[in-house]
Amino acid sequence: MSSPTSSTLPKDEHIVQLPYDPEEHPREKSRHYISATGEDIASMLETVKLNHLPELFSHLPQEQLFKGNLDLPEELSYEVAADHLLRVSQKTKLHTSFIGDLLPVWKVHPIVGQVSQLRPLSTSYTPYQPERSQGTLVTHWIYQCVLSNLTGFEAINTSLYDRSAAIFEAICCARRSRKRPGSVLLAQSLFEEDISFLRTHARGTDLNFEIGPLDTTTGKLDYDKIKILVEEKHSVISAMVFPQVNSLGLLEEVDFLSDLARQWDIPSIAVIDPMLLATGGLKPPSNFGSGGVDFIAGEAQHLAIPPSFGGPGLGLFGSRYNEHSKKDLRNTPGRYIGKAKDSQNRDCFVMVLSTREQHIRKEKATSNVCSNQAFLATIAGANLLAKGENGLKHALAHAADSRRQVSEWIRQRDGIELAFPHSAAFTELVLSVSEDPEILLRRAREDGLHFGVDVSSRLSSGEKKLIKLSFSDVQGEEELAALKKFIFDNFPASSQTENEAMIPSNLLRTEPTNLPSFSHDELINYYEQLANLNISPDDGCYPLGSCTMKYNPLLNDWAAGLEGFSQAHPQAPEEDVQGPLEVLYEIQEWFKSITGLAGVTTQPVAGAQGELVGLKLFQAYHQSRGEDHRNIILIPKSAHGTNFATAATAGYGSGIVYLQANEEGRIDLTDFRQKIDEHGKNLCGIMITNPNTSGIFETDFSTIAQDVHQAGGLVYMDGANMNAIAGIVDLSKLGVDAVHNNLHKTWTIPHGGGGPGDAIVAVSEPLVPFLPGKQIYKDKDGYFRSYTPESSIGTFHRNWGNFGHKVRAYSYLLRLGKEGVPRMSSVAVLAARYLFEVLRFHYPTLPAHAGQISRMHEFILTLSDQDFERLEKVGVPKSQAIPQVGKLFLDFGFHAPTVAFPEVFGLMIEPTESYTKAELDRFARAVISIKDLVENYPQVVTTAPHFTPIDRVDEVAANRNLCLSEKLSHLPSLPVNRIQPHVLLELDTDEIKRRILQLHDLAE
Ligand SMILES: Cc1ncc(COP(=O)(O)O)c(C=O)c1O
Repeated sequence: MSSPTSSTLPKDEHIVQLPYDPEEHPREKSRHYISATGEDIASMLETVKLNHLPELFSHLPQEQLFKGNLDLPEELSYEVAADHLLRVSQKTKLHTSFIGDLLPVWKVHPIVGQVSQLRPLSTSYTPYQPERSQGTLVTHWIYQCVLSNLTGFEAINTSLYDRSAAIFEAICCARRSRKRPGSVLLAQSLFEEDISFLRTHARGTDLNFEIGPLDTTTGKLDYDKIKILVEEKHSVISAMVFPQVNSLGLLEEVDFLSDLARQWDIPSIAVIDPMLLATGGLKPPSNFGSGGVDFIAGEAQHLAIPPSFGGPGLGLFGSRYNEHSKKDLRNTPGRYIGKAKDSQNRDCFVMVLSTREQHIRKEKATSNVCSNQAFLATIAGANLLAKGENGLKHALAHAADSRRQVSEWIRQRDGIELAFPHSAAFTELVLSVSEDPEILLRRAREDGLHFGVDVSSRLSSGEKKLIKLSFSDVQGEEELAALKKFIFDNFPASSQTENEAMIPSNLLRTEPTNLPSFSHDELINYYEQLANLNISPDDGCYPLGSCTMKYNPLLNDWAAGLEGFSQAHPQAPEEDVQGPLEVLYEIQEWFKSITGLAGVTTQPVAGAQGELVGLKLFQAYHQSRGEDHRNIILIPKSAHGTNFATAATAGYGSGIVYLQANEEGRIDLTDFRQKIDEHGKNLCGIMITNPNTSGIFETDFSTIAQDVHQAGGLVYMDGANMNAIAGIVDLSKLGVDAVHNNLHKTWTIPHGGGGPGDAIVAVSEPLVPFLPGKQIYKDKDGYFRSYTPESSIGTFHRNWGNFGHKVRAYSYLLRLGKEGVPRMSSVAVLAARYLFEVLRFHYPTLPAHAGQISRMHEFILTLSDQDFERLEKVGVPKSQAIPQVGKLFLDFGFHAPTVAFPEVFGLMIEPTESYTKAELDRFARAVISIKDLVENYPQVVTTAPHFTPIDRVDEVAANRNLCLSEKLSHLPSLPVNRIQPHVLLELDTDEIKRRILQLHDLAE
């Protein structure tokens, strides 16, 4: 194992000027971002009757704990960490760039930076509690409406991971919805990276593909051949996928393709770039052919953020939802926001259609996606509103003009020419060159230009040497002048000028989008009001069990925004992106150390995708040993919905076997052994969350792992709860073969109102050769380079995953260092155990017979039978009691705990290490007050919450009368907080109780 960063640690002098004063943010400067003081820790230890932090883990099998320090660097002080981050970012060489290709680059409006700093929007949880999440919900509503406006599609979900994932989900949705047999027809002119992603996902499932060929002379699809293919095979084609702008930058005949699919009743999926649909741009997919396509998928990262070395991306997905076409909606993946009313008839918004999702339908869900790219959707909406009709139109016109100009220069030179002069293109240009593209690109680089991308391999014939240039509003006069100079210096003038094809009018938008326009001030003021409707873990305990809502350092966000990270394009030459590669390398190596495992991939973009990576690795491993028949996945009943949904996505839908828990909430060994006896020969693997979702460590984990290994299976650990054991438990000693680490939980990246998440997957030695994506290594000269593992299962992202989030985790780990990681977990466990100790005398706890078992980072409270009866008497049925009691937490200034999972009648509380003892004590007083209210004044539960901007939302009506988008002519009007969240947090809990009772005329 290398000794990370030591060679690059900075000297004493500090170079960074931060745009904020860290001293003004008390949590920001605390050591390891732990707010509790030494005294706090000592006092909490005393309450739980322990002397030292390590004793918190004395009930764990001691041979499974790390001995000694992790192989991480020493922690850095705040200032030194900031300097270090800046220096690493400065290793990136940013050039004038015409690389766009897989990831277009457009200017983002300054409002994006401002909205990103609104912490109640950027750090809050998924808006499951609409009364406290109207801020997030409205931003997503705006996103849905604006994207609907651009695309003509009524139902736009609030995001999937990226374009590749959106295509995959659209395919699954089309097949589920129409129940047509057969393979999916993929246009060869889609990006190869998207096709690889699809192939990776298809392995081991019944999904297979037919490729619709390219015409190498036009650079577009071979329409005649595709027509014949569809005519011959239409009965065994289950969906058809084609791009509007293909991977050579050329415009496909979307009317023809859309109508061809319609003629044979094949569901059609168009891959689009929403930016190109602005006024003056390309035809919206709702108008393709005689009736539009059925689904759209695309990338929208560039509507929200700079390239950021490839991510977080923003996967756009849409389906129709109008009087002619409604049937697909309930088969679609992802989250939707709908219009709703609260109990006082106020207009508001709420998440709808969630009964399709994994947390409810498990393996029958429409997708395994849980965390999506929510915050990107938030800022994409703001960016589009800020640019408005004219801003977008001008940006697009500028790009098309630049392209036209460069095309003219090229057509006047010798030795370089348009590769497909007779095929129409809009903002991209593919050139045919006579010399080796690599040499030409290198020469341009020496002149400070990222001239374009070598796309020669995209023509299967391979006889042409092709370079692709992409244009947008980021290239102004200066950049174009530099490009012109390079072209004129390198290619002599030609005696004749070639003509180029015009864009046929049927491929263009005819009507303006009529997007509304707002002033910058008006918008920022509006988004500030939205933020005020949410709450952030900055301000106080955010007790969502399993979600680890901890403090998200400002330093991390600042680091991710550094130019050398945020402006790096993932297709830039490796020599020029040494900064980003260094971050990825260090993170890769550090997570080997943190988990104790042999290999790491940093590619997965969410926990659920990490799970899929794990199961695909298992699949490949078994296949490599000639054991394809292994199709059983064991999963404890209490597992997170993604585990089941992931197993189904990986192709194990009919092989999922549920494991039972024993009375103490751990895996029941007797039941497990029976299942092993029954299924051992066909066992692919097991998925176990550890510590489990009840906050209890699975002390039999290694025994279970041994049995699974003995039966020939493999062990997946869902690492969502690593906050309890990171730096403490050596996963190799547990027998783990693959584990994901949710970066948006333990590793402090913000939840963003539902995403982007991120996951780093670590694996045992036998799985290393199969890892997806690229591995990074440091060569003998200290350069960071990449390679693809020999038997790689393929790819889960077009590039490097959610790179911006890797920077955040890197920044966090720099501040934690080798001592901080176990200290962080220890204090998180201490905080939970302390609260459990205080609260267990007031509430019954779950699992019912686990009272004496030491809890890890979270615990579950419930109500007594008498409480349920009391509530039933005032009209709250038992099935609603826990969620409704959860609403009382909102009245005390907190978010509600996790309810209904993993225990139907549980309130799952996870305090994390971020808060002082005084803050935890106030939280405990609030929770005790809530119990007092339930016992003595149960009627107040019927009206809770009382101080949020809206009352309880009528979710049933919102789901019945779905309204998923509308023409945005004005900004939605906003409710107001009845008491500001920060005031609620400051009020004494007795005072809040008094005010609630007063509302019911019950106050003394
Ligand atoms: C236990 C557990 N597993 C898996 C996941 C899925 O992770 P993600 O939302 O990043 O896909 C979660 C998310 O909350 C979780 O709590």
